[in-house]
Amino acid sequence: MYTGLQHAHSGLAYLALAALVLVIIYALIGSLSGKAFTEKDRKIAMIAFILSHTQLLIGLILYFVSPLGFSLLTGGGAMSDSAARLTALEHPLINIVAIVLISIGYIRAKKLQESRAKFRSIYMLYAVGLVLILSRIPWAAWLG
Ligand code: HEM
Repeated sequence: MYTGLQHAHSGLAYLALAALVLVIIYALIGSLSGKAFTEKDRKIAMIAFILSHTQLLIGLILYFVSPLGFSLLTGGGAMSDSAARLTALEHPLINIVAIVLISIGYIRAKKLQESRAKFRSIYMLYAVGLVLILSRIPWAAWLG
């Protein structure tokens, strides 16, 4: 189970990050061009929203089955080792904050009236979320 979840979390990371980048660019173009925000635009923004939520779900389960997650945090010593602190504390915590911001961006866009404000809500909050996610990825373990 651990290996399967690890592979799923690692593979889905590519899709979630690519979707966030593409949706941010798409919403930015939508805002700058002054076009009307349609149902199609909402569905495109929803792709990145769903992928990041799926990643959150897998990440939460992984956190409790991985030797690099909760067990490392409670096992002692994680705070003094930067690699351990990253997977046991910083990566999960910062990513949860990032996904909350992405969710606010998406939900706000649905409630706002003006098209440009809807696009702005998506690209701004998705971009802040993306920067937070990128700042706490265990790059060496992932691509190293
Ligand atoms: C969009 C959000 C997220 C992205 C893009 C992401 C991405 C990644 C990546 C690329 C890795 C390294 C995988 C590897 O070494 O092959 C990783 C590891 C990990 N992530 Fe996430 N993650 C996200 C959210 C979360 C959340 C919310 C949690 C927990 C609550 C979490 C828990 C973990 C754990 C415990 C590991 C270490 C797994 C291991 O190798 O044993 N992740 N994540």
